[in-house]
This record gives sequence, C-alpha cells and structure tokens, in this order.
Amino acid sequence: MIKISSDKLIKRIKEIVYRGSDRNEILQEICDILEREVPVFDWVGFYLVDPEAERELILGPFVGEETEHRRIPFGRGICGQAAESNETFVVQDVSQADNYLACSLKVKAEVVVPVMKDSSFVAELDIDSHTQNSISEEHRAMLEEICDIVAGIF
Ligand code: SME
Repeated sequence: MIKISSDKLIKRIKEIVYRGSDRNEILQEICDILEREVPVFDWVGFYLVDPEAERELILGPFVGEETEHRRIPFGRGICGQAAESNETFVVQDVSQADNYLACSLKVKAEVVVPVMKDSSFVAELDIDSHTQNSISEEHRAMLEEICDIVAGIF
C-alpha cells in the first residue's frame, strides 16, 4: 500500500531532485518521504559505491534503525548482489534468502534497486519491510523510476 499515489510520490521526488541542493540532502529527503508515505517501508537508505575502496558499498543517507552494515563488499548480502548484477532484487521472505545480511530480526522483506549512471552502477536504494510479502509490483516500478531520476545527481 502507498498512502499517496506512486505518480504523486514521483512528482514530489522530481521536485526535490530538480531543486538541486546538496546530493546527500536530496537523498535524505527521498528516504524520509518514502518511509513516511509507504506504510510497509520501515528502513529506507542509499548505499553508494565507495570511490576509495575496491568494489565496496558505503552507507549514505538513511532513515530507520542504525545498522552495523555500513560497508558491504560487492557480492555480499542482497545489497552486494544487486551491486554486482545491476539488477533489482526483491526478497519477500528474508528467512529464505541464503546470501542475506541481517540488520534487525524485525525485517521480513527487502527490495534493492540499483542506480545506474551512463550504464555504470553508482549507488542503490535499499528498503527493508517488517511485513513479509509486502513488496508489490507497483512498489518495484515506482522505485525503479525513482532510481532513474536519482541517477541525474551522480
Ligand atoms: N539486508 C541487507 C543489508 C543492509 S540492511 O538491510 C540495512 C543485505 O542483505 O544486503
């Protein structure tokens, strides 16, 4: 469920991105809106490619509980697999995922969407839900569109 329509959310996110302030502020605002407007999104954050490390993600702006996974190597967990494959990962039941990094026992489902800039992976949007089977096709389509928009600020 999304409290306001996906179209309205995307419109608001475009306004934030095109207003053009600091990149981390923009990413933080996007996390805040998604967490506030989509009841099943309980943790929303961006992981960025660390320019100073070899194939490693570093946690950027997020909203939700603190996580011990501030750095994730490509290939590890759902986040690392999305970074390696450049594809969206939807996991409706994390207890069934074998390459998964647990942040909190409350998390039941997760979606990770890559941000691609000129065909290069630059970041990803990671969302955890406390509700199993909660990531809909509508969420996936909306998040992929948001990540296309976000690519413009990298
Ligand atoms: N569960 C993720 C780790 C990051 S936290 O969800 C914030 C994973 O398996 O990659």
